[in-house]
Amino acid sequence: MQPFYFEYPTRVYFGEHCVRDSLSKELDQMGQNVLLTMGKGSVKRTGIYDEVITLLNQAGKTVVEFAGIMPNPTYAKVQEGVKLIREHHIDFILALGGGSVMDCSKIIGTQAMVDEDLWQMEIVNKQMPTQSIPVGAIVTATGTGSEMNNIGVITYEEKEWKGGMKGLAPVFAFLDPTYTQSVPRKQIFSGAFDTLSHAMETYFGTTDENSVSDDLALAICLNTVRNMRLLLANFNDLKARTNLMWDSSMAINGIIKLGRPTGFQCHQIEHQLAVYTDCNHGQGLAAIHPTYYRMIAQSAPSKFKQFAKYVFDCDDAMQGIDALEQLIVDCGLPTKLSDLDSTCEITEEILEKVANSSRIIESAVGDLNSEKILTILKQCM
Ligand code: NZQ
Ligand code: ZN
Repeated sequence: MQPFYFEYPTRVYFGEHCVRDSLSKELDQMGQNVLLTMGKGSVKRTGIYDEVITLLNQAGKTVVEFAGIMPNPTYAKVQEGVKLIREHHIDFILALGGGSVMDCSKIIGTQAMVDEDLWQMEIVNKQMPTQSIPVGAIVTATGTGSEMNNIGVITYEEKEWKGGMKGLAPVFAFLDPTYTQSVPRKQIFSGAFDTLSHAMETYFGTTDENSVSDDLALAICLNTVRNMRLLLANFNDLKARTNLMWDSSMAINGIIKLGRPTGFQCHQIEHQLAVYTDCNHGQGLAAIHPTYYRMIAQSAPSKFKQFAKYVFDCDDAMQGIDALEQLIVDCGLPTKLSDLDSTCEITEEILEKVANSSRIIESAVGDLNSEKILTILKQCM
């Protein structure tokens, strides 16, 4: 195990009515001027907005609303938010939404504290931000785990780049599973698959075996798959949604990554795929994972065998990958890139662009190069 330092920056409130019961306590500790960030309208349709705005008003806050944050949030949207922060002297950002809203809010928070262009500073000059306008998160759609980490995944359209930028983790996170009851079926399963992917990518990130990290990652994989199947049987199963909500946070809040390198190679490919197709994150991952794993399985045969046995009760590594693919089919997620909900037709030229721009992670498990990524992508068609 590699040496590590660990502390947790996010106060977490989990469970039904947690917002109603405890948000005011947190708001009392935050500044006067609040930027309330939201997506494209779901929170107003569901009534979640009403609950939150009432509490903000009761706390006497001055609220500026920043709505319209899109799935796969853009760098331009970040800069729009920063403008509002400066115009209205915002003290605190309250993110009300799924991963896209939380991610965009974190990067707005850090960009607002520096005059330099944050992307240039982080991605080109490798200087990481140390300060942010504090962000609090109220989660309405699960899967990304963004509420408990410091990553903001942003699409910089002009640079044809999508990736994780570093912000600061939210100071608090509210997770009420009933808030997810209105999330459409496809998004519920793509979010759950994203969670599964985070745990799998951590587990397969190294050939190291029998570590705490591995066993925790496998447990999260198993629990996520079990509760996805329960939701398939009864889509309104609140207990299953509750477990999936906590699986989502646990898979990427940093705990299972402690003391080990991780891969996240499939994520790198999916991020670039989203640049050229604007596809949904979990759907893109579902379409790539089985093919990618078939390609790298020989590099870590015992890990793939253990995964197959523990998560899917299969005796053979390849049967485990087949079972993963069957789960994707059963959940109505795409197993082929051609089945993705995409803004454009996925041509060979697009696949080449994705392959050539995907960042390669050095890994003990199946190092890739652009040619191999192109092969995977073509096989995914
Ligand atoms: O925009 P609105 O109207 O709010 O609708 C959203 C959106 O259409 C809808 N939704 C959210 N809560 C709802 C709801 N609909 C009904 N009822 C509710 N309660 O769901 C749709 C998808 O929302 P979005 O936030 O885009 O989904 P998700 O949570 O999957 O976030 C995806 C983004 O997170 C990034 C992805 O790359 C993608 O950009 N990721 C962030 C990570 C992180 N910060 O650690 C890690 C992940 O690997 C991922 O890359
Ligand atoms: Zn993800």
